[in-house]
Amino acid sequence: MNCIRMGAVPTGAALLSFALTAVEAPKPVDVSKIPLPVPRTVDFVREVYPIFKESCISCHGPEKQKGKYRMDTKAAAFKDTDYGPTIVPGGSEKSSLIHMVAGLVDEMLMPPPSDKPGQSEPLSKEQIGILRAWIDQGAVWPDGPVDVPKQITFTADILPVFQASCAPCHGASDPKGGFNAVDLAAVLKGGENYGAVVTPTDLKKSSLITIISGQDEDLPEPAKHKLGARQIELVKQWIAQGAQ
Ligand code: HEC
Ligand code: HEC
Repeated sequence: MNCIRMGAVPTGAALLSFALTAVEAPKPVDVSKIPLPVPRTVDFVREVYPIFKESCISCHGPEKQKGKYRMDTKAAAFKDTDYGPTIVPGGSEKSSLIHMVAGLVDEMLMPPPSDKPGQSEPLSKEQIGILRAWIDQGAVWPDGPVDVPKQITFTADILPVFQASCAPCHGASDPKGGFNAVDLAAVLKGGENYGAVVTPTDLKKSSLITIISGQDEDLPEPAKHKLGARQIELVKQWIAQGAQ
């Protein structure tokens, strides 16, 4: 690969290397092997950038720029590589970044595999699906620095809200509808009639959002279930981040 980057004079060796390069030109990628895009609208700041931050930016950010590539800014991330453009808005199947994270480019699985367990895990199908959906939906990347929200956890962020607003009727002992709102496992399990009301990372399937927006008319007292806008946003972020 390196020989073509040198811009060598056309000696016999260089011509040979051009010939070899032609043979070695990036193989067409079998796009049917890439995990499918997730079937929902994804949010760059909440869902996409956190993947970059966790799995890529240590090698492609302010400190290191492996392969001369950085992806902590919009301008830098949408770059052409020897394997084609990294991000083609509207065309995840043509985006070399997707080919790389799916392991379809020889020797270029990103993040690169590591001997140390727990480090540099490959992206999950769900994460690749999120990146694909983001690209297919136009690869929107707001201008300016990206402010990644902190990890929202049940214990630190959600429990205090539920303690104050739900525990009077949904405490640990004899909760209404069998829904115990003050324990993470119980919240994920759900209640007697509704079953699970939280589907981690999927806001549309999480009926809890409708409930705490006061819009579930089937509940005896919808208004008693309504939280404030900031609290609803917090619960949404918690679910979007995986409801941990
Ligand atoms: C442990 C370090 C490391 C991590 C983490 C990492 N990369 Fe890389 N990346 C590299 C290295 C090294 C290269 C250069 C490989 C080469 O050219 O042979 C590279 C090259 C690339 C390139 C090609 C750049 C070019 O112009 O040729 C892209 C695109 C890329 N990485 C995307 C990603 C993405 C997306 C992630 C996260 C999902 C990621 N990388 C995570 C080390 C890393
Ligand atoms: C004033 C009492 C009251 C408060 C406060 C309240 N709920 Fe409820 N909730 C109820 C009643 C009553 C039901 C219906 C129970 C039944 O069907 O037997 C219910 C049902 C539910 C259900 C459905 C359970 C099931 O499967 O049947 C969920 C989920 C739920 N509430 C969540 C919440 C959350 C989250 C909060 C706090 C934001 C909250 N509730 C606040 C009284 C309350």
